[in-house]
Amino acid sequence: MITKSQLQKLAKVHGTPLFIIDHDELRSNYRQFRKYLPRVQIYYAVKANSDPAIVKTLYKEGSSFDVASMPEFDIVHENIKHLSAKKRQEWIWDKIIYANPTKPTDTLEVLNKYKPLVTFDNSEEIKKIKKHAPNAGLALRLKVPNTGAMVELSSKFGASPGEAVDLILEADKAGLTVEGISFHVGSQTTNFENYVQSLSLTASVFKEAIDRGYTKMNLIDIGGGFPAPYDSSVKPFKELAKVINTEIDRLFPKDIQILAEPGRYMVASAGYCVSSVIGKAVRDNKMCYYINDGVYHTYSGVIFDHCKYPVKAFKKGPTQMSSVFGPTCDALDVVSMAENLPSLERGDFVYSEKIGAYSHASATYFNGFPPAKVVHVNQ
Ligand SMILES: Cc1ncc(COP(=O)(O)O)c(C=O)c1O
Repeated sequence: MITKSQLQKLAKVHGTPLFIIDHDELRSNYRQFRKYLPRVQIYYAVKANSDPAIVKTLYKEGSSFDVASMPEFDIVHENIKHLSAKKRQEWIWDKIIYANPTKPTDTLEVLNKYKPLVTFDNSEEIKKIKKHAPNAGLALRLKVPNTGAMVELSSKFGASPGEAVDLILEADKAGLTVEGISFHVGSQTTNFENYVQSLSLTASVFKEAIDRGYTKMNLIDIGGGFPAPYDSSVKPFKELAKVINTEIDRLFPKDIQILAEPGRYMVASAGYCVSSVIGKAVRDNKMCYYINDGVYHTYSGVIFDHCKYPVKAFKKGPTQMSSVFGPTCDALDVVSMAENLPSLERGDFVYSEKIGAYSHASATYFNGFPPAKVVHVNQ
């Protein structure tokens, strides 16, 4: 954890807007996940924050990786380029999943030589994989309940349980190997029942596949969704892990391989940002602060991730309800309409914590303002 005075010092040294990643926290999150879900192989979902230094730290911890584009694949590949071709091939085969159910054909062609594990959820994708990446292993992405998740994914991805085995058999008939089932319960899922129901659906698809003669499946990918501790309403990870462990042990044989693709859980609490007040105004009797970071930049998760990040001041003093706006000319660039802040002046720093996931990753150059400078600590 980085202290307030460390954040201020870093902002003085590097300037603002500043995005800070604490690698001790990354390692601690990784180790917690391993500790509480010991049967699960961790594939860090690179999309949550693809900074190469983050990938490197998790690589050193022994992580596997979920990539969803060739640039993400290349970031991971940087860490293994020193290995012999054979070792590299084995590493990719064992430790990368290309978990984007819809893949461009040129991507499939590049991936094919690595015999990658890829996800799919429809017939069209089977045809594409057969033609452009026949060496790939497949995991069927199942549509599962995303009830109460902060970010819902089931309307865009996943075969319905009713068509799942038909698709598995279709892939088999095409000469491909379906190695298992994957699902995603929706990002920042605080409703643990989603995992319970998804594991139960997965078990019934496994059973139906066996009943219909398909016996080659040996893995389950339980996806992401593991909630970051944004506030005290989020139950401890250990409680969720207990539920998942119980269901896995109850429903599946011991030799089934279990994968997970945590993104947010690994990086959210490792990220901080510090920005400066660049202007202020009173609008409708409310104090409004303009800062040099906003929703087109580090606070992009406010829009894309439906996430809220409390904006805090280092300064002490009586507070009043204030709005915080980003620096661009767009009225959408609103970081928050309700923050209790003391009276701030131009140049004062403000900061947010637990902003490591889906934040800098989706920052843009909109309006000519570049993304915040990134600083790594405890690397
Ligand atoms: C296929 C897949 N796996 C993993 C993740 C990471 O999810 P989370 O950040 O909720 O752990 C995502 C996020 O969108 C995803 O689409």
